[in-house]
Order: sequence, then C-alpha cells, then structure tokens
Amino acid sequence: MARVLVTRQLPAAGLEPLHQEGHTIVQRLDDEPFSHDELVAAVGDVDGMVCLLTDPIDGAVLRAGAAGRLRVVGTAAVGFDNIDVATAAELGVAVCNTPGVLDKTTADLAFLLILAASRLASEAERDLRAGRWGGWGFMDHLGRDVHGTVLGLVGYGRIAREVARRAEGFAMEVLHHARRTTGFPGYVAGLDELLATADVVSLHVPLTEETRRLVGARELGLMKPTAVLVNTARGPVVDEEALADALESGGIYAAGLDVFDGEPVVNPRLLAAPRTVLLPHIGSATIGTRTKMARLACQGVCDVLAGRTAPNLLRP
Ligand code: GLV
Repeated sequence: MARVLVTRQLPAAGLEPLHQEGHTIVQRLDDEPFSHDELVAAVGDVDGMVCLLTDPIDGAVLRAGAAGRLRVVGTAAVGFDNIDVATAAELGVAVCNTPGVLDKTTADLAFLLILAASRLASEAERDLRAGRWGGWGFMDHLGRDVHGTVLGLVGYGRIAREVARRAEGFAMEVLHHARRTTGFPGYVAGLDELLATADVVSLHVPLTEETRRLVGARELGLMKPTAVLVNTARGPVVDEEALADALESGGIYAAGLDVFDGEPVVNPRLLAAPRTVLLPHIGSATIGTRTKMARLACQGVCDVLAGRTAPNLLRP
C-alpha cells in the first residue's frame, strides 16, 4: 500500500478511491496551503500526490518527489498549467487531471457571466445594496440583450461546446475559433475576424505559452464597443491592463471574469473598472462537481499506483 499526499481538504466522497485501495492519506490537519518549500519537503516521502491548481508543481517539487518514490500527481482540476508536465514526463512521473466532469458546471458559470456582464447585474446589485435605488427607473441600469446576439467562442473544447449548447436556448448565433479547423459549423479560421464579429467573446483555451496574453490591446481594439468579454479559462490569457483600459475608455462594453492573472490578487484597476462582473474562480464550484473532480484525481492516482492505465492520464 502506498502513501499519497493530498495537499488540501477534499470532499470525503472524493477520497474514496484512495481508501478503497488501502492507501495511507498524508494530509495537513489545518488545511493551510503548502508553501513551495513545504511541498518540496513533503513530496520526498510519498508515492503519489493529489494537488490543486493552486499548488506550484514545478521542476523542483517533481525532482524532490522523483528522488524519493513519487510516481504520480493527480490534479483536481482540468487545467494543469501549474504543473511542469515536461519535467514530469522526463522523470517518469505520471500526471492525471479531471477532464469531462466539470464541463457543464463551468459552462453554466460562463453563461452566468455572459448574462450578468451584459445586464450589468453587479452594478445594479451594488446600487441596491448601497441604498442607491430610488425606485423603478425607466432609464436606469440599462444593459444589453444577450438573446439574438453573436457568441464568439475562443477555443472549442468540451467546455466551449457546452456553452454553445446553452447559447442555442438564447437564440444566439454561435461562432468559434480554434487553432485547427474543427469541421463544425460556425468555425472561424481567424481570431481577429471572430473578435470583430462577436457581440460576446468567451474564452475557453488552456493557458500555454501560445495563449498567454492572447487577448491584448490589439485584440480588444478589434472588438465592438458594444461587445462583452467573458473569461472562465485562465487569467493570463488576457492582458488585464489592456482590458482595464478598454473598459475605462468604452473600447468594449463589459467584462465577466472568473479568473485572474496572479490569483488571488486582483488587479485594482479591474476592481474599479465599470461594467465588470468579477468572481473568485468558482467555475467548477458546485458540491457535485467538486466531488467528482476529487474522485477522478484520486482514481487516477490509484490507477497509476496499481499499474492500470488511468483514462485521465495526460500524455504530453
Ligand atoms: C479550474 O479552473 C480547472 O482547471 O479545473
């Protein structure tokens, strides 16, 4: 039986695969995040690790693990930009993530942001809570319609496709851009063309060196002044300073953001920007989905430790 480091508290049902295989779970009682140094120290003495997207699993952590007996890292997230997968592969440490189980939940949240940003829900609620609502006002809190507009999806993976399904119910025309042709209706080969055409742009790409700052000043400048930008992918995909400029100047209409560059710190200019809905990275945050994510990450670790092929194994 193996020792598996679980870096944070997870739903009890999520840990079941580890219990079922009789593994010893190594966990902090206080649920404080491990610092980088603490991770390096802790990983030397375990066979597997279940981590979160907030844990920096870089070369130093992986080397410390591989110098001991670490064989697998399971991240309870679909995004794995926090893990140096190339070094993991070199060291023979398997990496598993949680594809498939959070698509609908994250798409729901993306749609929430599309609606909330377009209809200025945060500003309207702030006014109400602050006692600034003087009564039903014909000309107050006028946002923009979502139904019947053009949705531009950047990236066309599982989550984007779920957003597209939701958009059908709102009679939206759905376009999508991806690096390679998808063969699906609505494919737009050029990102610039998609940005210039869409009324709502929703980002669904993983964070890689190719997608870092994919949406900067030039790209925001291509968007319509009436357009809404939604990001439920990763913060660094957007240049936040350029986004703040665009919101302040009216270069775009509104933004809905669930992810930020440098989380949990949020750029103060975005905090102050008009027509902006900001959420603390809760895309997959439902009890059901987080339980499935934890379970899948733990199951992947168990599979690798037992010599089985984990269906959620990353193949870099
Ligand atoms: C959430 O952001 C995830 O990658 O699962």
